Amino acid sequence: MDVMQFLVYLSLCTICALSKPTDKKERVHHDPQLSDKVHDDAQNFEYDHDAFLGAEEAKTFDQLTPEESKERLGMIVDKIDSDKDGFVTEGELKAWIKKAQKKYIYDNVERQWHEFDLNQDGVISWDEYRNVTYGTYLDDPDPDDGFNYKQMMIRDERRFKMADKDGDHIATKEEFTAFLHPEEFDYMKDIVVLETMEDIDKNGDGIIDLEEYIGDMYSHDGDTEEPEWVKTERQQFVEFRDKNRDGKMDKEETKDWILPSDYDHAEAEARHLVYESDQNKDGKLTREEVVDKYDLFVGSQATDFGEALVRHDEF
Ligand SMILES: *[C@@H]1O[C@H](CO)[C@@H](O)[C@H](O)[C@H]1NC(C)=O
Repeated sequence: MDVMQFLVYLSLCTICALSKPTDKKERVHHDPQLSDKVHDDAQNFEYDHDAFLGAEEAKTFDQLTPEESKERLGMIVDKIDSDKDGFVTEGELKAWIKKAQKKYIYDNVERQWHEFDLNQDGVISWDEYRNVTYGTYLDDPDPDDGFNYKQMMIRDERRFKMADKDGDHIATKEEFTAFLHPEEFDYMKDIVVLETMEDIDKNGDGIIDLEEYIGDMYSHDGDTEEPEWVKTERQQFVEFRDKNRDGKMDKEETKDWILPSDYDHAEAEARHLVYESDQNKDGKLTREEVVDKYDLFVGSQATDFGEALVRHDEF
């Protein structure tokens, strides 16, 4: 997204916000569901397929014969086994599931990549990103839109440095993904918190007080009385957000609010998949154990056929 697109996006948000004055800004990042299907293995394994492959990829397996599905699954097992010891552990499976779930993010980065990698060397330097994103905007000392590009750029550079693990000011694809989608990466959590705090902390004193917290989600606009949900939010702040009851939200309290430690869906699913396919109960999976249980992990024409039968029986 370049600056112009970003501005269009911002103004669209403003229009929505104006037409619906009581709409709350969504600041909280929840751990998303792995699938929109119901998880009921007695019925079918569609939830597990979506979780294991990502919904898009899961669809492609449904067209394959069982033999083709098993073969592709076998190749996937080799990729999951990141330390190459011949076993898939719960941890490796969890990491795989998390990555499969982020596929749309990686696709999104892939689409934008060529735009920023000016010299096509397979990495994106800060200079490349800055030139593409801010280019001529920075030369205009008095932009009519009043937008502070300099400030935006400083913020971007700080985030870029955080994403860039080895500190060489050059982002690999993985690092650039973390830069564009920081909320998806554990090591970017601090910067997500910091940026959110800066957005809300209007008087710049480094903490969020009750009025700033409310001001971020609601503007009075001449209302004589606050709607019920705003009163509820005030109560939330006092009772839950401000844990140490000092009247303000600090970094830790903001982090607990916007990045709640939700139920870890990927971890639960990894445990479930290991439990269901670990024949010798040694707590880890061989390639054979996974492929034996292929219909749990991936779809094929055979599983579709089975479902067609089930559906037929319902008539
Ligand atoms: C970025 O732009 C500056 C000024 O136009 C130029 O000197 C520099 O070479 C550019 N850097 C890259 C990596 O394109």
